[in-house]
Amino acid sequence: MNFETLSFRGGKLVILDQTLLPNEEKYVELRTKEEVYDAIKRLMVRGAPAIGDAAGYGLYVSVRGSEASDLAAFRGEVLETAEYLNSSRPTAVNLSWALKRMLSRLDAYIADAEKSDGSGTSSETADDKSGVEGAKQALLSEADAIFNEDVESCRRMGEHGLTLLKPGMGILTHCNAGALATARYGTCLSPVYLGEEQGYGFHVFADETRPLLQGARLTSWELKKAGVDVTLICDNMAASAMRRGWIDAVVVGCDRMAANGDGANKIGTFQVAIMAREYGIPFYMFVPTSTIDLETDSGDDIVIEERDGEEIYKMWYEKPMAPEGVKTFNPSFDVTDHKFITAVVTEKGIARPPYTESLRRLVHEL
Ligand code: MRU
Repeated sequence: MNFETLSFRGGKLVILDQTLLPNEEKYVELRTKEEVYDAIKRLMVRGAPAIGDAAGYGLYVSVRGSEASDLAAFRGEVLETAEYLNSSRPTAVNLSWALKRMLSRLDAYIADAEKSDGSGTSSETADDKSGVEGAKQALLSEADAIFNEDVESCRRMGEHGLTLLKPGMGILTHCNAGALATARYGTCLSPVYLGEEQGYGFHVFADETRPLLQGARLTSWELKKAGVDVTLICDNMAASAMRRGWIDAVVVGCDRMAANGDGANKIGTFQVAIMAREYGIPFYMFVPTSTIDLETDSGDDIVIEERDGEEIYKMWYEKPMAPEGVKTFNPSFDVTDHKFITAVVTEKGIARPPYTESLRRLVHEL
């Protein structure tokens, strides 16, 4: 990839500010918990896996300056910061998933330190009597693990996903589940990049994805930059493209998949799935196991983020495109019922219905 969605090098957490794309490619360093919260809330960094990556490193950079004198006090600070970051956006489960992982790693470190206390094998060193500096390093190594696993998981989803596609296919995608939404490669765009390397010659159609235009601003930007054939369409043109026979498969990402296979993704995904069913086009959802939430039974239990209505009628226009004060409804995601999903592509393999069984099997598989 010829850009980096986020990176952690030389002690700096740097993200590509996606609110400025496609007109400006600007990298921004995040140093404090407020900056991390704001970057996630305002979609400077977005897409479920990238939000998880940003949360991991974001938690570390937020607490690394802590002057806590013991591990109990440090744990209190970490917990409070994690709860704050977790409140930045509600739908993508990768946010809470990554923060929980960070806390578990910290707890394992503390348990280890307590166990070895007094035995002479303590993880505390002469320079780190309280063990707090060691705990900070444990958090950093967990954030690295989350990031590296995301890269590997996307690579594998690309390989599995490519087995479902054929050279020359027309592929419709909604929102952005590409490299900009992950550490690298993307989820549903990963097979597109892999196929491109192997000369598949896909024709990608990108829904613009109102209201925040992730398809127009981000998907068409990253595909075009990589030399993939991409055609931008408005959301209300997808049925027409299908009717013309241009679409052979739909590939989309996911923000949270419930145990029964219902998948929350960017608003508008559900209508694409319904149309694909009408035209007999396979609809594939790409879902790393970090995005599968077995504790949520069905899509009805997924919290859907609602955003400011100004995004619909003001944000992208020189003048408002609707009368001031008009009522708006601006849910950021919708839920696609499992019955419309032909297959779920994970890094561990492809799940088919009935999802209640196949997803659980995949998640627990080592
Ligand atoms: O509001 P966003 O831009 O964070 O929404 C992103 C999506 O809906 C993606 O499709 C989803 O997070 C999957 S990303 C691999």
